[in-house]
Amino acid sequence: MFSLRRRLVGGDLLPRGQTPENAEPVRLAPISKISTKPRKGLKRLIFSLGGLFGIIMAGIFANHNDVININLDLLSDLNLDSFFDVIPAGIPKEARDISQQERAAINFDSFSVGLHLYSQGFRAHHPVVMIPGVISTGLESWGTENKSRLYFRKRLWGSWTMMRALVMDRESWKRHIVLDKHTGLDPPGIKLRAAQGFDAADFFVTGYWIWSKILENLATIGYDPTNSFTAAYDWRLSYSNLEVRDHYFTRLKVYIETSVRISGKKPVLVSHSMGSQVLFYFFHWVEAEGHGGGGPDWVEKHVDSWINISGCMLGATKGLPAVLSGEMKDTAQLNAFAVYGLEKFLSREERTDIFRAMPGISSMLPKGGDAVWGNNTWAPDDRFGQEISYGNIINFKESNSTRSEKNLTMRESMDYLLESSDSWYKDAVLANYSHGIAHTERDVEKKNERDPRKWTNPLETRLPNAPSLKIYCFYGVGKQTERSYFYREEQTPSRKSNMSIDTTVINGEVFSEGWKLKRFNPGGSKVKIFEMPHEPDRFSPRGGPNTGDHVDILGRQSLNDLILRVASGKGDLIEETVVSNIREYSDRVQIFEEP
Ligand SMILES: *[C@@H]1O[C@H](CO)[C@@H](O)[C@H](O)[C@H]1NC(C)=O
Ligand SMILES: *[C@@H]1O[C@H](CO)[C@@H](O)[C@H](O)[C@H]1NC(C)=O
Ligand SMILES: *[C@@H]1O[C@H](CO)[C@@H](O)[C@H](O)[C@H]1NC(C)=O
Ligand SMILES: *[C@@H]1O[C@H](CO)[C@@H](O)[C@H](O)[C@H]1NC(C)=O
Ligand SMILES: *[C@@H]1O[C@H](CO)[C@@H](O)[C@H](O)[C@H]1NC(C)=O
Ligand SMILES: *[C@@H]1O[C@H](CO)[C@@H](O)[C@H](O)[C@H]1NC(C)=O
Ligand SMILES: *[C@@H]1O[C@H](CO)[C@@H](O)[C@H](O)[C@H]1NC(C)=O
Repeated sequence: MFSLRRRLVGGDLLPRGQTPENAEPVRLAPISKISTKPRKGLKRLIFSLGGLFGIIMAGIFANHNDVININLDLLSDLNLDSFFDVIPAGIPKEARDISQQERAAINFDSFSVGLHLYSQGFRAHHPVVMIPGVISTGLESWGTENKSRLYFRKRLWGSWTMMRALVMDRESWKRHIVLDKHTGLDPPGIKLRAAQGFDAADFFVTGYWIWSKILENLATIGYDPTNSFTAAYDWRLSYSNLEVRDHYFTRLKVYIETSVRISGKKPVLVSHSMGSQVLFYFFHWVEAEGHGGGGPDWVEKHVDSWINISGCMLGATKGLPAVLSGEMKDTAQLNAFAVYGLEKFLSREERTDIFRAMPGISSMLPKGGDAVWGNNTWAPDDRFGQEISYGNIINFKESNSTRSEKNLTMRESMDYLLESSDSWYKDAVLANYSHGIAHTERDVEKKNERDPRKWTNPLETRLPNAPSLKIYCFYGVGKQTERSYFYREEQTPSRKSNMSIDTTVINGEVFSEGWKLKRFNPGGSKVKIFEMPHEPDRFSPRGGPNTGDHVDILGRQSLNDLILRVASGKGDLIEETVVSNIREYSDRVQIFEEP
């Protein structure tokens, strides 16, 4: 019990020796300054206090096998999803306090953005469709075979059931969660489906909000299930299989067409993280002959605006170590909570296997190779005087073994990943995704539009030809993210010893500038960028109202404000805001030059 307490209040939340009373005040450094400091590993562990509580509960069971046996029956009856409502007597007082703090944290600014805008006359106008990001959608079991019955309609991803299964029934959990290596679909006898409705992505587990603040604010100006919708998808599947198994894109198309017919207004689509890629794919799919078949003006006719929140359309460097070696320290950014459970209960090798058997995750491998990410001596975002270029994505620490590894650029890293993987993985990645660059308009128009592999890659395909479509790119800047990795030499780079210093910039955002080229934006859709400096509130577990964190940004007040303005038809009044050096970096990325 004693070590338990240390984990709760020790180093994770505040620097050693500091209590909330004597903590140093938060000083906000200018962005350029923040991003040159080494990242603090511990900060990543700050996630929902509620989540911490759950994991500690799980930890207790894991550490005392006898307790597991005693509690198994009890636990299988108890619905852990509602743990907070039925905290049994005898739970340590700290845990109760935490659950109360969690409630306070949830409520710190609920509805306030919506109320403010409502008082100024903003009302629901366009229908709203939300497309959540990777791993934030819950996955439910629908299998009815013996081994799955225990989990029928329970979430094996995104709930306390997941945590419980991870601790007590790990092999079975793994069997359910991984896809068949060759078909990329459910293994025989197992059936996992994305949860549906607003519940799919409002909370990851009780207390850990994802979309719920946006829903609260939308509701305040008049949204409800008749004019808004969460298009949840099974993020484990490759995009082509989303249509094959779930007819996801067909359903999305029909939903949008129906809401245009009912309301007479074109919807606003709001996507987050991987959702932006899914939507980009959808825009190609829906117009393509033999796929959606909507014809060349479908998007123009059916979509008013696209709000693109922290999209990772060029992929994310963190995608690479996840599938290369099961690393997830900063993949955690995608969803601190889910990932913490995995890191806690699964080995690195298990995680690597799991991630590789989820082809959807591999859609986030970085695109554009060395032209975007740099070569051995140069990268677009290198700083003056920097010794080792950011272009070296994977760095091997010097060692005295005979084989001295060369440091790898992005292109080399991708080759390394594919060469060192089993052939089924390599085949799946190559069959589903393309990571190159198209240099001419002819390639973009003629060849690539017909090749579904390229539909996730904004460097090879274009935006829909939709002159009246408005695109809003909202993202946080100034938070450190990973840019390259250091591996110590072993047989395989399965052990990352240290992470490099960060930079936010090139993590895909750079491409927002690319849309100004006719080659990629034939209809001249209006693209507006709105950058939000990361100004976390140190005492708030999720960063508070001004965070720029990848997931927590969904609770940010200014983001909620912007979404409501666009949804109520006043997006035109939003002014572009760029505070980072993104323009400078994107000038240096060579693909942006017209040939
Ligand atoms: C499923 O369980 C039932 C009874 O518990 C048993 O009779 C049956 O053989 C089991 N089926 C399989 C395929 O294991
Ligand atoms: C994508 O990968 C899956 C395996 O994960 C494979 O079954 C499928 O055929 C691939 N899609 C395409 C379009 O080749
Ligand atoms: C790396 O790219 C820069 C800029 O394009 C170029 O000047 C340099 O020669 C390249 N270095 C190598 C090793 O290819
Ligand atoms: C490699 O270095 C380690 C210490 O860093 C040393 O113990 C070992 O003997 C060295 N091996 C060889 C082959 O030089
Ligand atoms: C690779 O990078 C590491 C760390 O930056 C450096 O120490 C090493 O010399 C580099 N190796 C090569 C072969 O350039
Ligand atoms: C990794 O970084 C930590 C501090 O961030 C440092 O104390 C440690 O020595 C580093 N390890 C290696 C192997 O470089
Ligand atoms: C979506 O936003 C990301 C950055 O957050 C950007 O890289 C990407 O280009 C945007 N997509 C579009 C179509 O604007």
